[in-house]
Amino acid sequence: MMDDIAFSARLERRAQTVTDTLRALLDGRIRDGEIDRPNRLLQAMRHGVLNGGKRLRPFLLIETAALFGADGDAALRAAAALECVHCYSLIHDDLPAMDDDDLRRGQPTVHRAFDEATAILAGDSLLTLAFDIVADPATPLAAQARTALILGLARASGVGGMAGGQMLDLEAERVRPDERGIIRLQAMKTGALIRFACEAGAVVGDAAPSDRERLAEFGSAIGLAFQIADDLLDVTASSERMGKATGKDAGAGKATLVALHGVDWARRQLDSLVEEACDLLHPFGGTADVLRAAASFVADRSS
Ligand code: IPE
Ligand code: IPE
Ligand code: MG
Ligand code: MG
Ligand code: MG
Repeated sequence: MMDDIAFSARLERRAQTVTDTLRALLDGRIRDGEIDRPNRLLQAMRHGVLNGGKRLRPFLLIETAALFGADGDAALRAAAALECVHCYSLIHDDLPAMDDDDLRRGQPTVHRAFDEATAILAGDSLLTLAFDIVADPATPLAAQARTALILGLARASGVGGMAGGQMLDLEAERVRPDERGIIRLQAMKTGALIRFACEAGAVVGDAAPSDRERLAEFGSAIGLAFQIADDLLDVTASSERMGKATGKDAGAGKATLVALHGVDWARRQLDSLVEEACDLLHPFGGTADVLRAAASFVADRSS
């Protein structure tokens, strides 16, 4: 088993590489087929992306790909694409019409640092950039893997995935869902991108279909754990530590499992989800230790 210090160092190292890749993708150079890159929009995109962040989804994608022997540009660029979708989701999540937050990753949210219209456009442009990155021949993938990633990312991000989950999350402020409803909305708003991270790593690594499915299931389990931990941290952690507002979900009427069942239940549920996730990795033996450590990190994280 990998210890916490080794895991943190590895997460940090991967995050740095992902950030370097994202910085290069968000430079001012006008690409083939583009007409201009308006500076204000580019600055807002950079603000929403190059502002820290754990880069957990990229990490999962890269480490899953590595499990199947794929390391290098394809995994890194697919990971950067996924992070673009994630950062777009945060920029829009923070808008006044959604969660109305002023702080993200310890800095003013994009609509605070710029303005609402610019934040909306920065989100739009990051979502589009994600598909640009995966489709770009600079991402060295076989045609079948490339289309599988494009389709998977679209399904995880759109009406049946993250964006659909955000819709359910907002509706749930008015009409309380039951436990199954909460689990479904969280599987969509948060779980879908985390599941995709793990499945995409298997695709980049050209894994057998049964392994791909297994990794996707692993992603679903830690995806649910991730949102339970986020909802727990909203109750238990300080805004300084999290770099975003905390203590808001209850007042906003957010439908969470923590609100439904309480903090102790949530902690037990996290333990059992980590166990379920780790069981799924059994066939991979010790080579999957870093993913086991990632599952524990998701549940035990303090930021
Ligand atoms: C926060 O995600 C939003 C949720 C899906 C709960 P992260 O906790 O991964 O945020 P960053 O990327 O590290 O800032
Ligand atoms: C965010 O969930 C989910 C997405 C951005 C898709 P939250 O609204 O709980 O995330 P935070 O707490 O603002 O990071
Ligand atoms: Mg939200
Ligand atoms: Mg929010
Ligand atoms: Mg939250």
